Amino acid sequence: MKTIKINSLEGDIITDSLGIRITNVNPNLPLNEEAINDLKTAINKYHLIFLKSPEPIALENQVALTKQLGEPWVYDYIPGQYKDYPEVFKVTNQKGNGFVNAGQAWHSDGSIYNRPMHLSVFSIGEIPKDGASTYFSSLHNALERLPKNLAEKLNNTEALFGKMYKPHAVIWEHPITSKKVLHINEGFSDGFRDKVTEKLFSQKENEELYEFFNMHLWEENTYYEHKWNFGDLVIADNYALAHYAKPTHSNTLRVLHRTATKGIKRQKPS
Ligand SMILES: [Fe+2]
Repeated sequence: MKTIKINSLEGDIITDSLGIRITNVNPNLPLNEEAINDLKTAINKYHLIFLKSPEPIALENQVALTKQLGEPWVYDYIPGQYKDYPEVFKVTNQKGNGFVNAGQAWHSDGSIYNRPMHLSVFSIGEIPKDGASTYFSSLHNALERLPKNLAEKLNNTEALFGKMYKPHAVIWEHPITSKKVLHINEGFSDGFRDKVTEKLFSQKENEELYEFFNMHLWEENTYYEHKWNFGDLVIADNYALAHYAKPTHSNTLRVLHRTATKGIKRQKPS
């Protein structure tokens, strides 16, 4: 494993296309300004950051860290959520404990919005007996791996998100790095259209494209499976990554805590 240093941070690179594991920061302890700035640098370069605490992540510490990284997303209360922590989106596999079985398709959080989420911060609250996993895939890498003729077609393609939200370009620029990404959101999008003519894709074309994207992101050795342990804290850059929650049986409880920072308004690609 390749070891790296980003000013005050030390870490290991997980794969060539995504992710580092920071080895000298405890996310349950307050981080000073230098560490936060270095963390932001690491996020912009590697997009997926793993931190580890010897103790389970306390919600107040996760919320505090999220606020240091950006403006936090705040959720309306639903039964099962934490009244004292409206910044925490509680995902579960059992009814009454929060949002049930969210994220079981490749997606980036908040991607339906014109101002999507930038960073999602995750920790595990309950691990079912068979374990819990989240998969991550680089959308820069997904674009680079596309056949050239399909990349050209998708350059002029928009994804649709129902009547309430604006269509978004399927290929767009990461707002910070300016690198282009394939913005796949199988879990949210309900079809595609030509960007110029606004002609809708047929149902068959939509299905074929979703099927292709699904296979594309599940291509061997391109994604990373994180198997959750208590004390893990994961920061994911939604501009650059898709993730997928591995389904679990509801006979033992799974609870994932997600906080998020607000992103900037989506720009159309040049
Ligand atoms: Fe998600």
